[in-house]
Amino acid sequence: MAEAAAKAAPGGGLRNVVAGQSALSTIDGAKGILSYRGIDIHALAEHATFEETVFLLHRGALPTRAQLDGFRRDLARQRALPDAALSALHALPRSTHPMTALRTVVSALGALDPDAGDDGEAARERKALRLIAQTATVVAAIERVRNGWAPVSPDQSLPHGANFLYMLRGQRPSDSEARIMDVALVLHADHEFNASTFVARVTASTLADIHGAVTAAIAALKGPLHGGANEAVMQTLSEIQSIDRVEPYLKDAFASKRKVMGFGHAVYKTEDPRATHLRRLSRTLGEEKGERRWFDLSEKIEEFVKREKGLYANVDFYSASLYHVLGLPTDLFTPVFAVSRVAGWTAHALEQIANNKLIRPESEYIGLSNVPYLPIEQRG
Ligand code: COA
Repeated sequence: MAEAAAKAAPGGGLRNVVAGQSALSTIDGAKGILSYRGIDIHALAEHATFEETVFLLHRGALPTRAQLDGFRRDLARQRALPDAALSALHALPRSTHPMTALRTVVSALGALDPDAGDDGEAARERKALRLIAQTATVVAAIERVRNGWAPVSPDQSLPHGANFLYMLRGQRPSDSEARIMDVALVLHADHEFNASTFVARVTASTLADIHGAVTAAIAALKGPLHGGANEAVMQTLSEIQSIDRVEPYLKDAFASKRKVMGFGHAVYKTEDPRATHLRRLSRTLGEEKGERRWFDLSEKIEEFVKREKGLYANVDFYSASLYHVLGLPTDLFTPVFAVSRVAGWTAHALEQIANNKLIRPESEYIGLSNVPYLPIEQRG
């Protein structure tokens, strides 16, 4: 027992446990630093496109101009969905949560993929890129189908983020909206061993297929302690509504020990560097659209939570006001996270398989011992 206790992670939740190696991204939680393949997220948020970021994560270095052009074309060509995937979507009740619909259609795409059944290295890589290309199409189709609108076919000439907004709305976004979407995708693409990525790696470590790993990761992302927090933040903003209600609302939340969504982080003990950019984008878009109230409300909440609790805003806090002003429905916020994070999930799954060892930790047993088996007549 003492030996098991010594092995168990202090505090649970595997905090501060190094669960494996990765060359994809790293976080310094004390300093608030995040980098993909060694490149600081601030530089990527300022200069990189989503496609460039996917290339970086998957191929290990930034692309040359020619490599990027080819990669963009390859991704864009693979955006369309097979008819059977759209039929699967149509078969779901319209009330289905978009994350449940996304999980279901991604799973179906595994069966429909031209490389289904081939789990060789080249096929795995093709399936990973196809999934990155298709996830945005699935999310846009979910929104259209549940509203009774025909899905919009992808436009290969548009960058990934702009094409996503186009498929969602049926109209091309402005240049500013397109860049804002692109930066949001860059910021969400990878984040070390977060819960959903770890799930993807555990699944890949059994040598299950890439679609299975991503399906499992989507299931994990949905929860409000993980990606689902951006949807929960918007619910909080909608409940608070006005700046004069911020303090009473939060005092009540603190008094009743309710967590304020979008704050705190398992690794960052200072500002989440992604929040720095999402705050800026939320303010910029709010000003451009003449709709600053959600940013102003968010800023007031942030000030109070920081002052009273010492908690910092995380990636989900300002993405809520940003996505809302961008016109995205609240329950689509977490699927949009997945549109980006599928780049990280697939890169991690491939990295895991390339140097695989089945992930199989131990538990600290806290149950009874030496319990005799009672015949059923003697129980009760
Ligand atoms: N609101 C209020 N209090 C919070 C809080 C929040 N968002 N996040 C953490 N705390 C408090 C906890 O209540 C706890 O207080 P206690 O020690 O008095 O019980 C303490 O801070 C530690 O919280 P804990 O949940 O154990 O920290 P963690 O590092 O394991 O948790 C999260 C990280 C993300 C799970 C947690 O901060 C959280 O639930 N945040 C809200 C959900 C969210 O935004 N998730 C997205 C993450 S990117």
